Amino acid sequence: MTTSVTLSNGLRMPQLGLGVYLVSDPAVCEASVRTALRAGYRLLDTAFAYRNEAAVGRGIRSSGVPREDIFVTTKLWPSDYAYEKAEAAIGGSLARLDCGPIDLLLLHQPVGDVRGAWRAMEEAVDSGVVRSIGVSNFTTDDLGELLPAARIRPVVDQVELHPHWQQPDLLPFLEREGIAAEAWYPIGHGSRKLLDESAIVSAARAHGKSAVQVILRWHIQRGFVAIPKSTDPAHIAANIDVFDFALTPGEMADIDALGRARPMFRVPRWLLSAVLPLARPRPRP
Ligand SMILES: NC(=O)c1ccc[n+]([C@@H]2O[C@H](COP(=O)([O-])OP(=O)(O)OC[C@H]3O[C@@H](n4cnc5c(N)ncnc54)[C@H](OP(=O)(O)O)[C@@H]3O)[C@@H](O)[C@H]2O)c1
Repeated sequence: MTTSVTLSNGLRMPQLGLGVYLVSDPAVCEASVRTALRAGYRLLDTAFAYRNEAAVGRGIRSSGVPREDIFVTTKLWPSDYAYEKAEAAIGGSLARLDCGPIDLLLLHQPVGDVRGAWRAMEEAVDSGVVRSIGVSNFTTDDLGELLPAARIRPVVDQVELHPHWQQPDLLPFLEREGIAAEAWYPIGHGSRKLLDESAIVSAARAHGKSAVQVILRWHIQRGFVAIPKSTDPAHIAANIDVFDFALTPGEMADIDALGRARPMFRVPRWLLSAVLPLARPRPRP
């Protein structure tokens, strides 16, 4: 079982979950969700744009795990950010997931009519169909604009975060504002450059664990939420087997020291603003 963080609204969020970005085959997505839940995962991360919300819902319902034990996150896409569109998009996600209230709904990107979407998200919390709301890919400047206008504060910012990119500006801001940091690309999208770092390899040897497990343990000990993606049952099982050991302060410091000056993945803001509000993915059944 995973540890959890307490969000600023009092809700507890598991620190380790399954991400399903790029899991495009509905049968594979459904099976991966079911495998993960049966292996002890209690956090799932999908998005409208991943086009697999319906498969995630089927995986939940067929897992045998009580719905109230599972924390489900999905995200709105910028093409749906205007207030009325966001209202309809929230209804669409609820219908596709078909598993009751959404535990956490995120704005996927900081472009387009952020305020209109946020108002619709706040109203979804008021009406009880969404339990908490947050953001993804928001910088300190983006949050600086949203926070004064928000009646309900974001509880999470989901961003690229792993030992090679440790968000040096954003993390102190999130800590001050009481916003939890959630890591996408938690294992660097499987990058060999990251997995082969000597600080990670030597900690893995010392604890009889894999490099991936050491990185996930680093996230846990830093207090982050991490959502590694896998469709491989052996990887799914291994990725949650990180609660029976602890990295020493020295090992943590050595991994902290791997932080680089740039993220692994960045799309220019002008491109996001120009394209995303116009491009609406079509959901799969
Ligand atoms: N908000 C955003 O903008 C955003 C952006 C990107 C991602 N995300 C979220 O973050 C999640 C994770 O990101 P990600 O999927 O891009 O990257 P990731 O989790 O860092 O890496 C996934 C890759 O690592 C491999 N892998 C997983 N476990 C492994 C293990 N134990 N040993 C060896 N390889 C392993 C996977 O392959 P196998 O399937 O073969 O195991 C896959 O190729 C996504 O699924 C999504 O939910 C959000």
